[in-house]
Amino acid sequence: MTGAFPQLRLRRLRRTETIRALTAETSLGPANLVYPLFIAESGPPRHPLAGMPGQYRFGAAAAAEEARAAADEGVTAFLLFGVPDKRDSAAAAATNHDGPAQNGLRAIRAAVPDSVLIADVCLCAYTDHGHCGVPRSDGTVGNDEALPLLTAQAVSFADAGADVVAPSDMMDGRVAAIREGLDRAGHSHTAVMPYAVKYASAFYGPFREACDSAPGSGDRRSYQMDVRNTDEALREARLDLAEGADMLMVKPAMTSLDIVRRISRQFGVPTAAYHVSGEYAMVMAAAEQGHLDADLAFVETALAIRRAGARMVVTYAARRIARALNGGIIGR
Ligand code: PBG
Repeated sequence: MTGAFPQLRLRRLRRTETIRALTAETSLGPANLVYPLFIAESGPPRHPLAGMPGQYRFGAAAAAEEARAAADEGVTAFLLFGVPDKRDSAAAAATNHDGPAQNGLRAIRAAVPDSVLIADVCLCAYTDHGHCGVPRSDGTVGNDEALPLLTAQAVSFADAGADVVAPSDMMDGRVAAIREGLDRAGHSHTAVMPYAVKYASAFYGPFREACDSAPGSGDRRSYQMDVRNTDEALREARLDLAEGADMLMVKPAMTSLDIVRRISRQFGVPTAAYHVSGEYAMVMAAAEQGHLDADLAFVETALAIRRAGARMVVTYAARRIARALNGGIIGR
C-alpha cells in the first residue's frame, strides 16, 4: 500500500535546510515589511517608548535617519504617525503644513527617495477628545462630520509626499470621501489603504501611550469592530473596495489570521496585517525575561502572517526581522 507509512514519510522533505528551502511554501523578505514610525512635533530627537522597548518617538530629522538605516537593511516602506503638540476639537493640527507627519514625510522622502511612505489618517491623536470621529453632545461619536476632517488630513499628507494614505478611524464612508478629495486635489496617484478590518482591541495599549491618543472618555467600540465577528469583516472589506480602496489592512494580526486568510482569498487585493504595539510588547517582555528569542519569535510571527495570506506585514520589529533575515536566520 502506498500513500501511508512506512512508504510515505513526510520527514524526507525536512532533512536538510536546502531541501526545506526548496520546498517552502511561504517566503519572507525585508521588502514585505512596513515599519511604523512615530513623529513628534517637539521633544528630543529620540524619545524612548516605555511600553515598546527599542521603539521611539522621533523628531522629523531623526525619523529620516532611522528610515535611512532601515532602508540600508532592506526595509523601504514606512507607516507614519504624527504626534502634534496642540489638539483641539476640530483637529486643526492635522492639516498643518509643518505638522509632524508632514515634516516627517518630507524629511524621509529626502533621505530615502524611493521609499513607500504611508501616512496614518485618523483624528484621535489630533483632537482634545481622543476619538477617531467627532463626539456629539449626546455622548455618541459622529460619523459624517468626521469625513471632511479626515479628507483634509489625507490631502495634506498627500501634499507632503505620502504615496499611500491609511485611514484607521473606522468611520463609514471615509474611503469614498478621501478618494474623491485626493482626486479633486490632483492626487489621483495617491493610493488608499484603509484599515478595513480593525477590531476594538486590548492590544493597542502601548500605541495609545506612544501617541497619547487614548479617548478622554468612553471607548472605541461604537466604531471599531467586535472581535466576535468575521462576516462583518468581509462586508467592511467589500465596502472599502467598492469605495475605491487600493489595498486593505487588517489588525491586530495574530488574533485575526482567519480574517487575513478570508480577505486575501476572497478579494485577491494586496492585503496588509498589522502586528500591533501590544503584540510587539508581549514578545519583547517575554524576551527580556529570558523566556524566548525575540528574533526567532518575530520571524516566526511574520511568516505566519504571510502564510495566512498577507502580502505586507506592518511591524515595529521590521528592522530586527530584516537584520535577522539578512543574517540567514531562517536557514539556521
Ligand atoms: C489610530 C490608530 C491606532 C493604532 C493604529 N492607528 C490606535 C487606536 O485605534 O486606538 C494602533 C496601532 C498599534 O497598536 O500598534 N486610530
